[in-house]
Amino acid sequence: MADVNYLKELFSLDGKRAAVIGGGGVLAGAMSAALARAGAKVAVIDLNPAAAEARADEIRKLGGQALAVKADCTSRKDLQDASAACDKAWGGTDILINAPGLNSGTPFFEITDEEWEKLIAVDLKGVFLACQVFGRGMVARKNGSVINISSASSGPPLSKVFTYGVAKGGVNQVTQFLAREWAADGVRVNAIVPGFFPAEQNRKLLTPERNAQIMAHTPMKRFGQPEELLGAVLWLASDRASGFVTGALVRVDGGFSAMTI
Ligand SMILES: NC(=O)c1ccc[n+]([C@@H]2O[C@H](COP(=O)([O-])OP(=O)(O)OC[C@H]3O[C@@H](n4cnc5c(N)ncnc54)[C@H](O)[C@@H]3O)[C@@H](O)[C@H]2O)c1
Repeated sequence: MADVNYLKELFSLDGKRAAVIGGGGVLAGAMSAALARAGAKVAVIDLNPAAAEARADEIRKLGGQALAVKADCTSRKDLQDASAACDKAWGGTDILINAPGLNSGTPFFEITDEEWEKLIAVDLKGVFLACQVFGRGMVARKNGSVINISSASSGPPLSKVFTYGVAKGGVNQVTQFLAREWAADGVRVNAIVPGFFPAEQNRKLLTPERNAQIMAHTPMKRFGQPEELLGAVLWLASDRASGFVTGALVRVDGGFSAMTI
């Protein structure tokens, strides 16, 4: 006997309002659609307005409510404007997904100040700023779920992706710091730690040699598919399904983090 109502009670996001930063991308685009299919209204926020609009349109075609907002996550002003657009459209934000991403495989001694600053700005400062800007309303309303998208590179370190890994280690810190800070205010803060999923930001990095290394270290011997992150997203977004979960770093990686020799 499948009790559909029971599943709905646990996972429905009816009436919830979500903001997805980096929502025009491969992984967060799928996350945006999943939140909408679970009942949330979704603001798809991205530096690339065409990508955000395409994802928002996909949601509208599914019968959901969506906004597309252009914003650079490294700009406090852009994020404040995006948050205000959500407030204007539907009165606030209950769920925030931080998933902007920029990566680079530059060897350590060749990393320039500019490259370091750019990656840290998008991958770490963007998460800090969005937590400040969107988190304020959540703390004031005493409810919210923040889901930061970390990475297997957050630790132990991966080869090649130095600055990205440092930023993602910082994302784990932001997640657990705010989980402590906001627990008494009813705002949960968790991270999903994906393994390897082919996407835009890592397209150039996934050379045949790198792919062979990844497969040798992934017990499931394959890349992940965006859909395989969605169960974790819906679980962490739902106060009923994950109401006692905060500060968690949830690995979705085909066993990558459990592999030694
Ligand atoms: N693909 C993977 O294997 C993998 C693994 C671990 C973590 N991640 C993380 O998942 C998230 C989603 O990345 P993806 O793999 O889908 O890549 P993607 O390149 O498809 O998506 C990243 C999105 O971020 C947007 N973006 C870049 N700079 C921005 C900025 N300054 N402001 C706002 N948006 C900006 C891009 O326009 C793009 O739509 C990222 O945080 C990434 O680090 C991905």
